[in-house]
Amino acid sequence: MDTLDQLVSSAVSDFAAATESARLEDAKARYLGKEGALTVLLKGLGKLPADERKVAGAAINLAKERIESALVARREALKNAQLETQLAAEALDVTLPGRGMPRGSLHPVTRSLERIEALFRSIGFEVADGPEIETDWHNFTALNTPENHPARSMHDTFYLRDEEGRVAEDVLLRTHTSPVQIRTMLAHAERHKHLDRLPELRVICPGRVYRVDSDATHSPMFHQVEGLWIGEQVSFADLKGVVADFLRRFFESDDLKVRFRPSFFPFTEPSAEIDVAFMSGPLEGRWLEIAGCGMVHPNVLRFGGFDPEKYTGFAFGMGPDRLTMLRYSIPDLRLFFEGDLRFLSQFH
Ligand code: DAH
Repeated sequence: MDTLDQLVSSAVSDFAAATESARLEDAKARYLGKEGALTVLLKGLGKLPADERKVAGAAINLAKERIESALVARREALKNAQLETQLAAEALDVTLPGRGMPRGSLHPVTRSLERIEALFRSIGFEVADGPEIETDWHNFTALNTPENHPARSMHDTFYLRDEEGRVAEDVLLRTHTSPVQIRTMLAHAERHKHLDRLPELRVICPGRVYRVDSDATHSPMFHQVEGLWIGEQVSFADLKGVVADFLRRFFESDDLKVRFRPSFFPFTEPSAEIDVAFMSGPLEGRWLEIAGCGMVHPNVLRFGGFDPEKYTGFAFGMGPDRLTMLRYSIPDLRLFFEGDLRFLSQFH
């Protein structure tokens, strides 16, 4: 019996020493396998005299059961331990703050455009749109710009080539948003042609324009916002009031100075350039040009389907890039178009 007890305790301690299941199964084989110590004992039973066989068999079986249950317990313990290790290794700290998605922001020029649109909408203007690939007629001819005008030269305007590589006669990248004046006038006149009197037309047209020009203050692509108000009694006084009020609201400055300086544009008569001066800040007291404007030329009204004997109107074209530079004190226009996040992410 002592031998059986020893066998059991040696099996139990072998099992305890096995720290992984393969080793445990090796240990099991040493006791319960085909050649295992207990199996050998059981096989030896046959050699015993019959009266001893029963007692010895019972004792061996008891030892076998003890070893088997020690084995089962150890298997269970090893399985649990393995699960514990795995859980510890794969632990998720659900209390960690999330990484999140970086927040984008609107481009500063887009912010200005939205602001300009909101301010003009608040005084009854609509927002109109036109194509960036424009016809020569809309861009120049209908705007009273003669054949030999320098703006039409290859040095100033991007012309497009046809399939054979020849410069296409009639299409170009628009050099200003003024052709949208013609498009909206024609559409307005057409839409209301059944009426004796055309209703007032009040629009702004923001968009991209293109010129062969590139330095710190000029980019081959830039933005403009065209304005147009046509009616039966529209005067230069209205132009001054609307533009000056807009500029003071845009810059949030009641003491902004606004001046109209006589100038020339083929599509307006009389024409003026609009300058502003700030009463404080780094640019204090300096006059800065920000727009062109004037009373719509009778030829332009006619091209747009309005009778110049009945209707008058004013127009202006301003540079929102320039307005944005002034509003945020940005020194170089090229920063707008380089896509550098160090610059852009400042505008949240
Ligand atoms: N189209 C002109 C330009 O690009 C700007 C301009 C001047 C627009 C006077 C107007 C205007 O509507 O009346 O330089």
